[in-house]
Amino acid sequence: MSNLLITGGAGFIGANFVRYLIENTDHRVTVLDKLTYAGSRASLAGLPGDRVNLVVGDIVDADVVAPLVENADAVVHFAAESHNDNSLEDPTPFLSTNIIGTFTLLEAVRRAGTRFHHISTDEVYGDLELDDPERFTESTPYNPSSPYSSTKAGSDLLVRAWVRSFGVQATISNCSNNYGPLQHVEKFIPRQITNVIDGVSPRLYGQGRNVRDWIHVDDHSSAVLAILERGRIGETYLIGADGERSNVEVVEAILGLMGRDAGAYDLVTDRAGHDLRYAIDSSKLRDELGWAPSFGDFEKGLESTIAWYRSNEGWWREQKHAAEQKYALTGQ
Ligand code: NAD
Ligand code: DAU
Repeated sequence: MSNLLITGGAGFIGANFVRYLIENTDHRVTVLDKLTYAGSRASLAGLPGDRVNLVVGDIVDADVVAPLVENADAVVHFAAESHNDNSLEDPTPFLSTNIIGTFTLLEAVRRAGTRFHHISTDEVYGDLELDDPERFTESTPYNPSSPYSSTKAGSDLLVRAWVRSFGVQATISNCSNNYGPLQHVEKFIPRQITNVIDGVSPRLYGQGRNVRDWIHVDDHSSAVLAILERGRIGETYLIGADGERSNVEVVEAILGLMGRDAGAYDLVTDRAGHDLRYAIDSSKLRDELGWAPSFGDFEKGLESTIAWYRSNEGWWREQKHAAEQKYALTGQ
């Protein structure tokens, strides 16, 4: 049994990963999370107190980070400012958390000699044309578009440099768009599900033709665990589950599954610099580590996600109000 330090473990993917670890391994977990607007204690509710410990703190604070890293056998680094729209309104916390926070963790793992896994995004590669037959691979050049994705790209490059220059024992994964329970309602899928629950039309940016490559969050977790256990140090692995859908297709599926008219959505102001399409080729992860996704059927995964939001209004109601107030300011 090992002690894992999970940064950002009270956020969407981090909390699902902690839950996945508790169900599928013997590891003990310390979560380090600042509990920003995106993190909540409620996302860790019900987990065994003898295996999961939450430390509320900032990854930018070296005095908080150092002792936690020293007591850990490995660090899995999820903490980030994660929402593109927010990064367009105010990039400042993205620079601090995503760049300085990752730097702070790297210095701590360098000193302590601790294994490090860095969670990143396919957005570092920029976007693809709708008809491009190529997908992103580990050798696609970095070309980020937004303040969010450029700070994630910067954090990836820091990890690569710390591996090469200081011999830090790190791996990196870049995953496509996640969906599932516990996702903040500012994000596309939960925003539209909760809109429909509230009797409000889903909001599609632009013409809704942008494509994202959806993966269930539990498949992201199983991939991260495989990389942590069997990944080669210094390597990057792309995580994806062949789930490309246009935004309008996703909204039509949500409306259909929730018993509404397929055309009952509004087109709203587009996102500035909106990436057109993401698509992941995850052959390296599959061939080298034998990983495969379990959620083959996106519509089934969407159905269970809708059921989760219907049953857990107490978890999302407060954040819904705040998120929609922000969107109202940009006409989205
Ligand atoms: P999220 O916004 O839901 O959660 C982020 C968590 O980090 C929150 O709990 C927040 O409180 C915490 N946090 C933020 N700043 C912090 C700080 N300075 N110190 C400590 N904790 C801090 O994000 P998410 O969607 O779960 O994404 C998690 C990671 O996965 C991010 O690194 C993101 O770039 C990456 N990622 C996300 C997706 C996706 O589809 N959501 C896809 C690929 C990669
Ligand atoms: O690709 C991985 C990335 O996926 C992660 O790195 C990010 O952390 C995560 O937020 C996500 O980024 P996106 O910008 O793709 O996700 P978002 O949920 O914000 O939007 C998905 C798509 O839906 C995008 O094309 C914008 C569009 N959209 C979004 C919202 C919130 C709408 O059309 N309407 C909306 O209301």
